[in-house]
Amino acid sequence: MELEHKKVLITGGSAGIGKELIKQFVDRGVKDFAVIGRSQSKLDALQKEFEGINFILVAGDVSKLEDIEHLLEQVSSHWECIDLLINNAGVVSAGALKDISDEDIVNQININLTGLILLTKKALPLILKSKEAGIMNISSGLGLIAKPFYSVYAATKAGVKHFSEAMRRELIFENVHVMTVYPTATDTGMMTNAKVDHMDSTELVATKSIDGLLNKKINVILGGEKRLKDVDTNLNDPLEIDKTVMENYEAYKSRTKEHRAM
Ligand SMILES: NC(=O)c1ccc[n+]([C@@H]2O[C@H](COP(=O)([O-])OP(=O)(O)OC[C@H]3O[C@@H](n4cnc5c(N)ncnc54)[C@H](OP(=O)(O)O)[C@@H]3O)[C@@H](O)[C@H]2O)c1
Repeated sequence: MELEHKKVLITGGSAGIGKELIKQFVDRGVKDFAVIGRSQSKLDALQKEFEGINFILVAGDVSKLEDIEHLLEQVSSHWECIDLLINNAGVVSAGALKDISDEDIVNQININLTGLILLTKKALPLILKSKEAGIMNISSGLGLIAKPFYSVYAATKAGVKHFSEAMRRELIFENVHVMTVYPTATDTGMMTNAKVDHMDSTELVATKSIDGLLNKKINVILGGEKRLKDVDTNLNDPLEIDKTVMENYEAYKSRTKEHRAM
């Protein structure tokens, strides 16, 4: 895939992994981005940070249909097509299911999954106008292996995995490469309240994601060989993973207790 001249629509491009993706796309020659995020000041900071880059900045919430429609009105008034849709915006609220507020349950599902699906649906006509398009969906390692105390978040990210797979097959005769990225713990604002020893850098996640796009990979799974082996074990011998969970149950519980970034 040629990156120069691509028009990239990214959700949650104003922080963390999304912002690093923008940085690395800019380094590789991309000049046109549309970005949606809820905070106007974080969006304004993008324009200052990346001088000379053309931004369509829309303050909005991907879980709100009217905000998605407003975003696409803005995009279609400036661009003839979308070459790359990156569904990156996401939130997390961890803890025992009984302790996650009803509001956090609904919002995690609406932001991480429903909004992603609706935006993809509404963006598709413009994506299909591109000569060579891509859809990059950011799931999570928890979308491949569900862990206790991340029941709702893991469910949304498994939903992203399956949506991505179904769309790849639905668009099989179109020139649209659909791929999914599965980061493990990554050092961003989302992880401020999570107690994790080792975190990947946003640089690593963005580099692997973009390399995956350029090499037409279907899945980019962070976390190295160990993670790939665990994914296989989880599928073929899930009780092995359960044993590790039993051994580390209290640690999982205390680490996730305060983990909330909504
Ligand atoms: N960090 C990790 O350890 C990790 C691991 C696996 C997967 N992921 C996934 O990677 C993606 C990026 O996460 P991150 O760690 O970079 O998070 P982050 O640093 O918290 O950034 C999230 C971005 O999404 C935007 N956003 C959040 N809710 C939104 C909404 N309702 N509508 C529009 N924009 C919204 C935020 O801007 P506003 O707050 O201004 O809206 C921000 O720009 C997420 O999908 C996350 O689930 C992260």
